[in-house]
Amino acid sequence: GGWNDGGMMHDNGSMGRGNTVDLVASNEPTQPLPIPKRLQPDRVTDEALYYTVRAERGEHRFFNQGVSSETLGYNGSLLGPMIELPTGKTVYIDTINQLDEPTSFHWHGLVIPGEEDGGPHQLIAPGEQKRARLDIDQQPGTLWFHPHPMGATAEQVYLGLAGLLYVTDDMSSSLPNEYGVDDIPLIVQDRLFTDDGQLDYNRQMNIDGTIGDTLIANGAINTTFDVTTKTLRVRLVNGSNARNLDFSLSNGASFTQIATDGGLIDQPVSLETLKLTPSERAEILIDFSDLSLGDELALEADGISFTTFTVRSKIVQNRDWTDAFREAPVANESSEADRRLTLFGVSHMVTIDGKQFDPDRIDINVQQGTTEVWEIYNRDDMMGGMTHPFHIHGVQFRILERDGKPPPDNEHGWKDTVAVAPGERVKIKMTFRESGTFMYHCHILEHEENGMMGQLNVK
Ligand code: C2O
Ligand code: CU
Ligand code: CU
Repeated sequence: GGWNDGGMMHDNGSMGRGNTVDLVASNEPTQPLPIPKRLQPDRVTDEALYYTVRAERGEHRFFNQGVSSETLGYNGSLLGPMIELPTGKTVYIDTINQLDEPTSFHWHGLVIPGEEDGGPHQLIAPGEQKRARLDIDQQPGTLWFHPHPMGATAEQVYLGLAGLLYVTDDMSSSLPNEYGVDDIPLIVQDRLFTDDGQLDYNRQMNIDGTIGDTLIANGAINTTFDVTTKTLRVRLVNGSNARNLDFSLSNGASFTQIATDGGLIDQPVSLETLKLTPSERAEILIDFSDLSLGDELALEADGISFTTFTVRSKIVQNRDWTDAFREAPVANESSEADRRLTLFGVSHMVTIDGKQFDPDRIDINVQQGTTEVWEIYNRDDMMGGMTHPFHIHGVQFRILERDGKPPPDNEHGWKDTVAVAPGERVKIKMTFRESGTFMYHCHILEHEENGMMGQLNVK
């Protein structure tokens, strides 16, 4: 069965394999949704932008009462700023490690050479600094960045290291695009707290991925947002270590998905629920025209609301979104697989093609510029198995097929992560434009740590 056919059977975090902590509604008082700051460049020239990003320790108040929690953040105590990456420009980012352990800065979803990718081979020691050069040449979209040091990725992300990357262009668009007003990011994560309010990270206890019972949106519990326009664009990021999230609106109304991981879909798709597995992103439009001033509408994940929108005014933006979707729909006609990869296992026994990660082994060699079709098979065992969100660095791909059938309409856009359900075969197609060594792995971060990762060399 496909992961999107409504079955609960294989969903980690509910029934079946994996951890089983349910999300619960929090009774914390509400607070305004924090909007990550837009990072100001240190310097801008005609061709380039220069930014500085520091990974640092911090303290963050998740709860109204009680202590603050020890956290990690970029240029702050939790999560990070939004970094704008204009397409066609070169962006230099001075990355500084102010932690007391090694980290790296991985630009998830960017199509850049392997040596700038910030994977596990590009560690930055405590106190050190390194400049990343990012030549931005891809569709506008909602990407993110996070650490990738082998053995500490999952914990560093859990404690707060994750930030937004917006690839932008200067084409005028009719889509809502006023940051923080009618175009907002929502990094959604589940977290578990100890009795004294600390983030509870225990990898040994959570071998299939750390899941928590509390949802945070942009780092905060029970958030509210005042809507002042008829249409709100929400950029959803499932930033959880391991939990799949089914998003819906509290009134059951439909919303419109306009973008996938790597940019706009060819055609907008109307949905009532949307599943994102860890590290998948989606941009959605929520229409408030049928609501009255003062009305509330909540965004929920697995039926638990985490951000409540209140209609404060209903300014009409340009209603004609259609010119934003100029591209002719891509015909994802299927073809024979050039390679087949098999995902298998749970807990410590997770493998790709029967192997666990070896930093000294290249698993796949590809010639730069080639286009390949990969078939990703999630081999289940007698107990069922788990959905694995499969991610490849350095490319954006298209999903050609799920079990021999075309993917659902909302998966027709650019992707860098694809959910593969137990027993399912998913065909994807991509062109390897950039050279270097790239990781591919399950984005359940603890599976990645447990070795569900391979290396791809493009020459
Ligand atoms: Cu979010 Cu290896 O990546
Ligand atoms: Cu990545
Ligand atoms: Cu996995």
